[in-house]
Amino acid sequence: MHWYEDDGFWVDFSEVMFPPRRRAAIAELVEGSPLFDHPAGTRVLDLACGPALYAVPLARAGCRVTGLDLSPAMLDRARAACAAAGVQVRLVQGDMLTHVEPESYDVVLNVFTSFGYFDAPEDNLRVLRNAYASLVPGGELVIDLMGKEVLAGWIGRPQVVELDDAYVVQRDTVLDDWTRLRTDWTLVRGATAREASITSQLYSAAELRALFENAGFTEVSCHGDFDLSPYDQRARRLIVRGVRPGGPTGDERKREDA
Ligand SMILES: C[S@@+](CC[C@H](N)C(=O)[O-])C[C@H]1O[C@@H](n2cnc3c(N)ncnc32)[C@H](O)[C@@H]1O
Repeated sequence: MHWYEDDGFWVDFSEVMFPPRRRAAIAELVEGSPLFDHPAGTRVLDLACGPALYAVPLARAGCRVTGLDLSPAMLDRARAACAAAGVQVRLVQGDMLTHVEPESYDVVLNVFTSFGYFDAPEDNLRVLRNAYASLVPGGELVIDLMGKEVLAGWIGRPQVVELDDAYVVQRDTVLDDWTRLRTDWTLVRGATAREASITSQLYSAAELRALFENAGFTEVSCHGDFDLSPYDQRARRLIVRGVRPGGPTGDERKREDA
């Protein structure tokens, strides 16, 4: 089994990845970020949606959201979050490596470093090609992850995250000449420790941009945060956006929205 197929991993480390304060912060982010400023009715595919931290506020803002995830446990949490928020989200269990719904979405989102999970580089490219196929012409793909350049600024120091009754130590190791990253997680609760290792592909802005272009996307842009600031020395994330060609141009879309 690959690490990302292990439901137990997502459940055991969910307190670190999906704490309640992150849900609240994302709700604010979705309201304020130009990246999520979509007209009501926009069809959004949240690829690797987890417990619906993005799907809920997007649905609340009027988008028609589908959340896709491989993990049944994460989908259960997503279902509970949507019910608690009183929003409708279509939740689907599936694998981003194979999932395609031809020309069905205006936006495909893949956020919080949910990309680069496959060992074979061509499989990660395939995820982009699947997203391309699922978008209507003129639709956009947005990927948010920890860029190689950002990571290089702080990697090497193990991180400790304190939880209510436990703590997690996260240690990163760069592999294969900065092409891949292994993160070792240790969750310590009382006298017990739970360990897990995840390995994912690392991307610089230029590498991810090239991958988007290879998959057929145009108007590709790189940003350092959700406010669409440039990807420069102040970047906190790597956000790459690309458009499936064939729809209205960027200028035409702006005129339509005005
Ligand atoms: C880091 S979490 C991010 C979740 C969510 N995007 C967020 O921002 O909170 C990554 C998610 O990817 C899902 N996942 C892992 N491999 C997947 C795959 N091959 N296809 C679909 N989802 C996958 C996991 O179950 C997990 O929910």
